[in-house]
Amino acid sequence: MRDRLQALADAARQEISGVSEPSQVEALRIRYLGKKGELSAVLGGMGKLPPDERRALGEIANTVKAELEQLLADATKRAEEAALEAQLKGPKLDVTLPGRAVLPGGRHPVSRTLEDIVRTFARLGFEVAVGPEIELDYFNFEALNLPKDHPARDMQDTFYVDEPSLGHAKKADSPSLLRTHTSPVQVRHMLSRKPPIRAVMPGRVYRRDSDITHTPMFHQVEGLLVDKDVSFAELKGTLDAFVKAFFGSETRTRFRPSFFPFTEPSAEVDVTCASCGGKGCRVCKQTGWLEVLGSGMVHPNVFTAAGYDPKEVTGYAFGMGVERLAMLRYGIDDLRMMFENDARFLAQF
Ligand code: FA5
Ligand code: MG
Repeated sequence: MRDRLQALADAARQEISGVSEPSQVEALRIRYLGKKGELSAVLGGMGKLPPDERRALGEIANTVKAELEQLLADATKRAEEAALEAQLKGPKLDVTLPGRAVLPGGRHPVSRTLEDIVRTFARLGFEVAVGPEIELDYFNFEALNLPKDHPARDMQDTFYVDEPSLGHAKKADSPSLLRTHTSPVQVRHMLSRKPPIRAVMPGRVYRRDSDITHTPMFHQVEGLLVDKDVSFAELKGTLDAFVKAFFGSETRTRFRPSFFPFTEPSAEVDVTCASCGGKGCRVCKQTGWLEVLGSGMVHPNVFTAAGYDPKEVTGYAFGMGVERLAMLRYGIDDLRMMFENDARFLAQF
């Protein structure tokens, strides 16, 4: 039995010295010192021995057990240190790899276009004014000569909201909505000052619309000029000058008679489609033209709502779609790309 203990101890020393991982050390501990391990197996036959010999063997067994425990503890420590060292000096970091570039940001094509429009009109003497995006029905429609139940309200499918608008104290009973155009800012601006007026009013507008040339949120820039004896010829001249300054002098425009309740007479302006060069495509619905703005001479009822005397003043107004102008300028054929924020699209500007 002594020989068997001695042999067991030799084998264990040998094996423990050869392991290099904590999991292997644990496997050896179970194999030699576990409840059903080899040491227990050897000692199992001890009961049959005489008491003297049993005591002597017990002492040897305890010494062997203590020694193996110590060896196992040392082996665990060794294995852990080796693992740490391998991690520290392993080839995990290759300093010769090229770095990952941080891409510089840039202005969104819509922001750039909007800034360009405002800057172009600033050169023509127009100041900038703004109004709220949550607007009162009163300013978005009624004050613009669109009474309740007027069929032209259907031209702009409206989102109504519960949130109260930054209203006008006197019109607090008017329902709130997301403004469908920037024209309500005309009325707010006129209420806040006396003529003459020459202003552009940029901002977001909202409609229940969605296809390749319409999105539910888009930007407009409104223009308003009020003075004595303003003519339609001045409106045409100003818009033509704007289009040529913005797109280049070779660009062709088309004034098309139209209808808006807040202007009379009214016209829409089309620009030759940049996607197909005027030949006809899905962007311009095969017409060769893309509508970019609505315009006209300010209706007398709008002047009255703004507290101006329509016998004293005349004026013109226009409202242009910023995304449409950006599409034409950059040759983009789907308006919805402007709002997807795909980095591959944005990086091209
Ligand atoms: C208006 O919104 C009028 N308020 C414009 C106006 C102002 C007329 C002052 C007279 C006097 P319209 O609904 O046509 O009109 O829109 C004007 C422009 O906004 C269009 O020419 C087009 O360029 C753009 N637009 C209209 N709907 C959308 C849409 N869903 N997505 C993107 N652009 C749009
Ligand atoms: Mg229109």
